Amino acid sequence: MTTLIDLAGYLAAEQAADEAVKDVVATVAAACVQISRVVASGAISGSLGAAGVVNVQDEEQKKLDIITNDILRDALKGCAAVAGLASEELEEIETTGRQGGFLVTFDPLDGSSNIDVNVSVGTIFSILPAPAGRTPTEADFLQPGRGQAAAGYAVYGPQTMLVLTLSTGVVAFTLDASGAWLLTHGQVAIPADTAEFAINMSNQRHWAEPVRRYIDGCLQGKAGPRGKNFNMRWVASMVADVHRILMRGGIFLYPWDSREPDKPGKLRLLYEANPMSLIVERAGGKATTDGQAAILDIQATKLHQRVPVVLGSANEVAQVGAG
Ligand code: AHG
Ligand code: MN
Ligand code: MN
Repeated sequence: MTTLIDLAGYLAAEQAADEAVKDVVATVAAACVQISRVVASGAISGSLGAAGVVNVQDEEQKKLDIITNDILRDALKGCAAVAGLASEELEEIETTGRQGGFLVTFDPLDGSSNIDVNVSVGTIFSILPAPAGRTPTEADFLQPGRGQAAAGYAVYGPQTMLVLTLSTGVVAFTLDASGAWLLTHGQVAIPADTAEFAINMSNQRHWAEPVRRYIDGCLQGKAGPRGKNFNMRWVASMVADVHRILMRGGIFLYPWDSREPDKPGKLRLLYEANPMSLIVERAGGKATTDGQAAILDIQATKLHQRVPVVLGSANEVAQVGAG
C-alpha cells in the first residue's frame, strides 16, 4: 500500500501559498478534527437537540451549533495569523487583538437540521486578507469572494473529509482513525455535464419563472427539451450536496424565492456561498446566482447577507442561465 501524505506534508510542499495562510488552514483543520469527535459522539455526550436560543438569522440554534462555534472561535483566537473572525452564529465580528494577517468567516455546523437524525453535516470556512496596520472592522469582511486567500469545508459523513483550495486547484483529505488528515483526492475536477439536480422541490410554488422552467425541463426527462432523464438528490446540508457534486458532478440550486422578498435566497454569502463558489470554480465548475452572474464577483454589503445560489457542472449551470 502506498503511503498517503498528511495535511502538514501537503502544506509544506505548497510553495505558492503564504505561510500565514497555511497556519490558518492548519488551525481550522485541527478544529474540524475536534468537531468531528463531538459530532460523532451524538447522544452519548448529550450534544444533540435544540439549545433553546435563536441566532442572528432568526433560526433556532442547536446545541451543536453553539459547541462547534466555540471550538472554531477558540482555535482561531489562538492562531497568530488571524486578526478577526465572523460566524453564522455570531451577530457581530470579533477581533483577536492582532493586526494584519487574515480574517476568517465560517459556518461551524452546516446542515444542522440533519444532526439529530444522523445525516451528514459539515463546517465551511473562508480566509480573507486582513487590513495591515489596524484592527479590522466589519467593513473589512465585506470583500468579493474572488479575493479569498483560501477556502474549504469539512464534511462529517460516512467518512470525514476536508476539502481545500489554497492558491490553485482543489484537494481532499480523509480523516484516519488516529486523527490525521490524509490526502486521498489529489486533484478534484467537476464533470462539465450531468443528469442530476439538487433543489428543495417543496419550494417550487415560490420560485421565479426561469428556475421553474429549468426544473420542469429536467422533470420531463428524455421526452422533454433536454432529451435525457434526470435524477434528483437533496440532503439539505449544502456541504453534503456540494461534496457529491465535486465527486461526481451535478447542479445545486437554492434560488431566490418569493417567501421573504427582502431576503434574496437562504444561503449566506460570506461563509456559505463564497467559500463553496471558490472551491467549485477551482474544480472547473460554475458558481452563480442565476446561471450567469458569478457569486465571487458580488460586493458584499452586509455580514449576514443572503444570496441565491446556482452552482455545479459548468454546462448544466449555463442551462439555467439560458432559460
Ligand atoms: P445551516 O444549517 O448552516 O443553517 O444551513 C442549512 C442550509 C444548507 O446547508 C442547506 O442547503 C439548506 O439550508 C437546506 O434548506 P431547506 O431546509 O430549506 O431545504
Ligand atoms: Mn449552513
Ligand atoms: Mn450552520
